[in-house]
Amino acid sequence: LDRNKVSGRLTDIDLSENAKAVLAKRYLKKNEQGEVLEAPIDMFRRVASNIAEGEYKFREGDEARALYEEWNEKFLQMMLSRKFMPNSPTLMNAGRELQQLSACFVLPVEDSIDGIYDTLKHQAVIHKSGGGTGFGFSRLRPKNDIVKSTMGVSSGPVSFMAVFDASTEHIKQGGTRRGANMGILRVDHPDIEEFITCKNDNEKINNFNISVAITDEFMESVRNDTDFDLVNPRDGKVMKTVRARDLFEKIVHGAWLNGEPGVVFIDKIDGDNPTPQFPIESTNPCSEAHLPPYDSCNLGSINLERFVRSADGSDATLADGNTSGEVRIDWDELRETVHTAVRFLDNVIEQNNYPLAEIDAMSRGNRRIGLGVMGFADALIQLGITYDSEEGLAFAEKIMKFVDDEAWAASKKLAEERGVMPNFEGSRHEKRGLRARNATVTTIAPTGTISMIAGCSGGIEPLFAVAFMRRQADMEMPDVNPEFVRLAKERGFYSEELMKKVAEHGSVRDIEEVPEDVRNVWVVSHDISPEWHVRMQAAFQKHTSMGISKTINLPNEATTKDVEDAYMMAFDTGCKGVAVYRDGSRDAQVLSTGATG
Ligand code: CDP
Repeated sequence: LDRNKVSGRLTDIDLSENAKAVLAKRYLKKNEQGEVLEAPIDMFRRVASNIAEGEYKFREGDEARALYEEWNEKFLQMMLSRKFMPNSPTLMNAGRELQQLSACFVLPVEDSIDGIYDTLKHQAVIHKSGGGTGFGFSRLRPKNDIVKSTMGVSSGPVSFMAVFDASTEHIKQGGTRRGANMGILRVDHPDIEEFITCKNDNEKINNFNISVAITDEFMESVRNDTDFDLVNPRDGKVMKTVRARDLFEKIVHGAWLNGEPGVVFIDKIDGDNPTPQFPIESTNPCSEAHLPPYDSCNLGSINLERFVRSADGSDATLADGNTSGEVRIDWDELRETVHTAVRFLDNVIEQNNYPLAEIDAMSRGNRRIGLGVMGFADALIQLGITYDSEEGLAFAEKIMKFVDDEAWAASKKLAEERGVMPNFEGSRHEKRGLRARNATVTTIAPTGTISMIAGCSGGIEPLFAVAFMRRQADMEMPDVNPEFVRLAKERGFYSEELMKKVAEHGSVRDIEEVPEDVRNVWVVSHDISPEWHVRMQAAFQKHTSMGISKTINLPNEATTKDVEDAYMMAFDTGCKGVAVYRDGSRDAQVLSTGATG
């Protein structure tokens, strides 16, 4: 990296070929002929300077200019060093005409035709600007319920969800990606059974992820094997009574079949809502942001891998391993990055061009930000820690507590400088005497694209594979993690034959030719039992303001009982929701390892 440094500062960014290709395709400015007009470094300059301009909202004259210059440089360095990336809409839109910077929105769905179709329009406006939308459909009256004005009957939440789905089909997000939605229905809604099965067919309602909002009362009822009432939200009348376990089994069966529906534990989510004056009824599409209607959240993620240092202070690499314990985290640098990132995300709220006046008011009032982490699996490998081990869990808790504590410290400092969040009155922060600038500070996003840009493992997920078989020009070729190749060569166990074997297995855990210490830390998703996936999610949840995006991976041969166990365990360990995926259970799996694909 030194070649890019001028007096200690980075002047360029070290990007992989894949990262460059993704940026050129979707992120960089283009002219009408589709020619790319900016280099990646120009994009980062555009973003840093646009977000630093937020400083002018709080100070004037020379003071503001000095702050702008200071933070412009810090924001730029934080991105060029790949220590931090904001969510995709910020990278794409900051400093450009659109200026819509948030990934996550939740919209209300009122029980009226006007309400539903206003929201349908708002969904299109948000998708057009590059954001994802979540909806709670629970306030809609059930199917076949009376519609007074026409003496007709309602078609119910699932059929309206299909309308939102159909509309999504035709609007590209920010002109670059198809829209993403979350649809949530409470477990006590009379149409819950129809909802649970509405995605059993892999071709249906494709632009939605769906989740059942599970209440504590329902879980009690499942535990005690009692009956459970389904209630009409229009008048509170019980419309049907079911055996809670039967309903739970249906949810579990759907998740086993193709990963839908997921579940969110709504009482836990709402119980932790820092702004109870605005109850939470849905989440964003990947379910890590819990938002009241008309709220938004902008995300950013810290690449933990960049804070791992060798004994001599240089960047550690995946090939370093840590057999003698001399590789460590640079906590001071991590602290500084968290503080800079919180200021960045608070500035994003100011600089954002919100798609609706209602969203503008709610977002500025609550000031939710979602700082998360990525590159967690890479960091573990460099540190020589096994993902599915007590040490792995302890490290997860330690580092997330650090990030969360420092993020709150930064938010409190910002409150001294800029004032507490406008919706402080009536908030849980007020009750607790927490004078913070933001309702929430931490959230763990999937980091689907930004982890690829940063060149690290996604979110808090383990590696997908050490190697996999890739079809190229009609040939099956092994595609091996380059750091693993480097390590294998350095440690003297490299051979083409072995790499092919690794690619066919996906995992190295049972390959004897690979040294044991390497096998222990180069863990992939399929090596890890569902129980350990849940435990890791729970470890991170302990110190995260909002939610966690994590997939509980199950082998193809997993049973519905395995799914049920994972759900129960997630509830008992304090997770805010669960999403499972049984390998091979959806037709179009993008990547597959030789063993299963
Ligand atoms: O890596 P990137 O910033 O592109 O996004 P992510 O971390 O994978 O996803 C974060 C959030 O962006 C999701 O939970 C959605 O709210 C939103 N998103 C979306 O609206 N459409 C997509 N195609 C992907 C993500």
